[in-house]
Amino acid sequence: MKEVIVALDFESAERALAFLDRFRDGAMKPYVKIGMELFYAAGPDIVRQVVDRGHKVFLDLKLHDIPNTVRRTMRVLSDLGVDMTNLHAAGTVAMMEAALEGLTRPDGTRPKLLAVTQLTSTSEERMQRELLIGAGMAETIAHYAKNAREAGLDGVVCSPWEARLVKDACGPDFLTVTPGIRFADAAADDQVRIATPANARALGSDCIVVGRPITAAEDPVAAYQRCLEEFVWNAQ
Ligand code: C5P
Repeated sequence: MKEVIVALDFESAERALAFLDRFRDGAMKPYVKIGMELFYAAGPDIVRQVVDRGHKVFLDLKLHDIPNTVRRTMRVLSDLGVDMTNLHAAGTVAMMEAALEGLTRPDGTRPKLLAVTQLTSTSEERMQRELLIGAGMAETIAHYAKNAREAGLDGVVCSPWEARLVKDACGPDFLTVTPGIRFADAAADDQVRIATPANARALGSDCIVVGRPITAAEDPVAAYQRCLEEFVWNAQ
């Protein structure tokens, strides 16, 4: 699996759909990520509209609640026809198992399910001091990823620089979906551990999530194509 997933980080359905209109000609139908901002602003309807336009959707709502609530919520999300969604591994193996149960449709199919191990915005120092997690960041990420695999999940969201660590802990087929992507000639914005699409490929990411380098580009279609060239087509 090698996919470029475009983060639709917009504050309204109108803006998100106007952005997608740019990709209307040709065969390009980007895989998109709908996160909390757009989902809470526009509701489940925007997910249905984007799915109806033929886009694959990664619904990035990062659930974290008691197993029963997560099971029931995942059932609702599964009906939206998304291809992938996620939760926090910190919710425990029991919560992740409940999530998979809820996500599985009556015909046995289900969207892929990923876990967030530690947010890439969390430093090792804060994790240890504020969350009282005594282990180091690498060990914590590997352990949470193994919990996710044990629960039957398909992979994790992580930094490209952690992709190898996750593959070593969980096997080559366990998916690594990686944000924090920037072109070599661009600003980092608020991302810290960044990688170019070509770096991410070399580091073993299966999918890259790209927001502002595409959504804020003068020519978003060209920026998307550049990602495809570096990450999908260019086997370097
Ligand atoms: O604009 P940018 O490329 O930084 O967007 C990255 C996207 O990936 C955003 O939607 C952000 O919320 C998401 N993300 C992230 N780091 C994580 C998880 C999700 O940047 N650990």
